[in-house]
Amino acid sequence: MPKVIVANYKMNGSKKLYATIVKKINKLKVMDTRIVLCPPFVYLDEFRLKNRSVSLGCQDITNEDNSKSTGQISPSMLLEFRVKYVIVGHSERRKLGEKDEQINEKVKICLNNGLLPIICVGEEKKSDKLDSVLLQVEQALKSTPKDTSPIIAYEPVWAIGTGKLPEVARINRMSKKIRDKIRDLGYQNCVVLYGGSVNKDNFKEIISSEIDGLLLGGVSLRIDEFIEIVKGIDNE
Ligand code: PGA
Repeated sequence: MPKVIVANYKMNGSKKLYATIVKKINKLKVMDTRIVLCPPFVYLDEFRLKNRSVSLGCQDITNEDNSKSTGQISPSMLLEFRVKYVIVGHSERRKLGEKDEQINEKVKICLNNGLLPIICVGEEKKSDKLDSVLLQVEQALKSTPKDTSPIIAYEPVWAIGTGKLPEVARINRMSKKIRDKIRDLGYQNCVVLYGGSVNKDNFKEIISSEIDGLLLGGVSLRIDEFIEIVKGIDNE
């Protein structure tokens, strides 16, 4: 199965920066890696992607099936901009008050409209019980069709943007727990990503773990370093 690498640009960038990124990404040659780029909504149209290994994603979606929602973005709008993937339930949105119930609504809106949600889960503190993460997985997937293959990004909140990385054994343990949970819930398959403080110096040890890919934040803005990581993984 190809490794999946997701770039979450968060609330960063400019037309100029994204023009550079798109130019370099369109020239990038990879054999067996799927790349997903998730810019802020207002820059989606800058991402004229001409590379079959690269897809467009975004960082959120509405949870309401109601056009009277000021400031929200609907699935049909995203589809018009060729978006395929949607990051849902990122801890930075959970911090703004997003609850499991809304995350579940967003996941369902994605699936009902042919969009693939990338569901972010993770414990707040290093000392927290890992089972709380499984509860997040379960809640996010409540009443979704079992013939889908959920994409789960395990992102320990304490590791996001902090330079702190969990031990590979912890990532492996969590990845196995998530896979077991998904199977128990009745899904055939899933994709488990890791995210949080990955960079060019540590990606190799993480990719050697039992995960299917990475969700990259800060480093995705440094396009040369991002490409170095993609190539490193593609050559594995
Ligand atoms: P980071 O962010 O790579 O900057 O730690 C990851 C994320 O927020 O998804």
